[in-house]
Amino acid sequence: MKSTVTIHRDFTIARIDDRLYAAFIEHMGRAIYGGIYEPDHPTANAHGFRQDVLELVRGLNIPAIRYPGGNFVSAYKWEDGIGPREDRPVRLDLAWRSKETNQVGINDFAVWAKDAGIEMMLAVNLGTRGIEDARNFVEYCNHPSGTYWSDLRRSHGVADPYGVKMWCLGNEMDGPWQIGHMEAKEYGRLADETSKAVKAFGGGIETVVCGSSNDEMPSYPDWERQVLEECYENVDYISLHKYFGNSSRDTLNYFAKIEETGRYIQSIGGVIDYVKAKKRAKNDIYICFDEWNVWYHNREEDSKNWHSWDWPEAPALLEEDYNLEDAIFVGGLLNEFIRRSDRVKIACIAQLVNVIAPIRTKTGGPAWATTIYYPYQFASLYGRGTALNVAVDSPQYNAHVAQDVNYLDVAAVLTPDGKSITVFAINRHLEEEMDVNMALHGFGDLTVIDHQVMGGDASKARIANTADQPDLVIPRKGDKLSVDGGELTGRLPAFSYSVIRLAVG
Ligand code: AHR
Repeated sequence: MKSTVTIHRDFTIARIDDRLYAAFIEHMGRAIYGGIYEPDHPTANAHGFRQDVLELVRGLNIPAIRYPGGNFVSAYKWEDGIGPREDRPVRLDLAWRSKETNQVGINDFAVWAKDAGIEMMLAVNLGTRGIEDARNFVEYCNHPSGTYWSDLRRSHGVADPYGVKMWCLGNEMDGPWQIGHMEAKEYGRLADETSKAVKAFGGGIETVVCGSSNDEMPSYPDWERQVLEECYENVDYISLHKYFGNSSRDTLNYFAKIEETGRYIQSIGGVIDYVKAKKRAKNDIYICFDEWNVWYHNREEDSKNWHSWDWPEAPALLEEDYNLEDAIFVGGLLNEFIRRSDRVKIACIAQLVNVIAPIRTKTGGPAWATTIYYPYQFASLYGRGTALNVAVDSPQYNAHVAQDVNYLDVAAVLTPDGKSITVFAINRHLEEEMDVNMALHGFGDLTVIDHQVMGGDASKARIANTADQPDLVIPRKGDKLSVDGGELTGRLPAFSYSVIRLAVG
């Protein structure tokens, strides 16, 4: 198979917001307890956080993290997690039928996030609570001193305010499973008033209003229209969520779900434009894709378990063993976010540790990187800067979810200093190699800095990394590409994900 690709320095899509590579972590399963926090673990620091996990997290250079939920947030009382640990109440978490010990709360999480070099993005509970609770939480976190909530924070040993800028207005409020689920108009009104109250604290706060839980919800996309009609002028982002899987074992269709995601983004972009025009609004709002990932390997089994179990503490939940195919899929999804970076400013991999995660742990044992860790890492490290328009002429296929899908999936980014280009390229074909000819105009002479490849053999699609064999699926150096002037040529292995870094000039 043969494909040609054309890129020009002046044909750009958008400046990528670094937060396109953000993450999400929730109080559920073993994400917090037994994930990032395990005081008895041999690598735990004085605060009880696992250093081996922190090291893997740091390797991802994550700009921001959404916390503490998720469905969990919709019945969460954040005050349960502050003050001396021994005084904190144990509660039943209604979202995941588990016991929440509150041994990690906002101040503990802030210590972890600071250590990891990640900015916090906090969600308020609009399920069982409302404006009053949101206002108190923001005051506790962001006000310097001299008020009830700020002085309470100071009495808990945190002298300086956190200055949290990003606040999510609840979670998946369209979902009947959500505690405190609402109708669109009702939620839109509440989100509008909460956003105004939260922003009244100043400090450049940005808010994220809940869009649909996914594009298969019966109320999608009218939910977005109705919600935005209530709050457009007072919010900054609307959230999108989508989880993926390949239960039918149809790999090409699985990969084509990325096209479907492109349509999802495009449709919500259209709704945003419609409401903006209807309201004669001056402000722009963008997309915060604040939950995305592969979630299907144990989904049915997990769901059976947690609906009937007897309130366990930090149970294993949604611990997916990601394989090579999932890694290639995640690389493709990140490519789509780069291509849509004019609309999508924030995207959060859901989640970060143990629960549908790039990092897994054994309690008392090792931590390891799952297969999807690598494409997420490459995108976060080398996908920052300006997204370039990429014209691709590739053989195509038809799938159940999309027609005319390119076998070659490409995204390209010019780094902020203009000194290098990263090309993320996927050959989706299961058997055939792809001869590529990429013409990169306007950059002068290029040289290859590095070429990393994952995959190359579809018979290994279902291989996953495990605690005992954490390095079964990792990137390796590619050697089949060369550059002459501004032309990159060579061969991409079948069923592979590549990161090609080129030096400019
Ligand atoms: O990430 C797992 C769950 O998926 C989140 O709690 C919820 O927001 C979504 O439905």
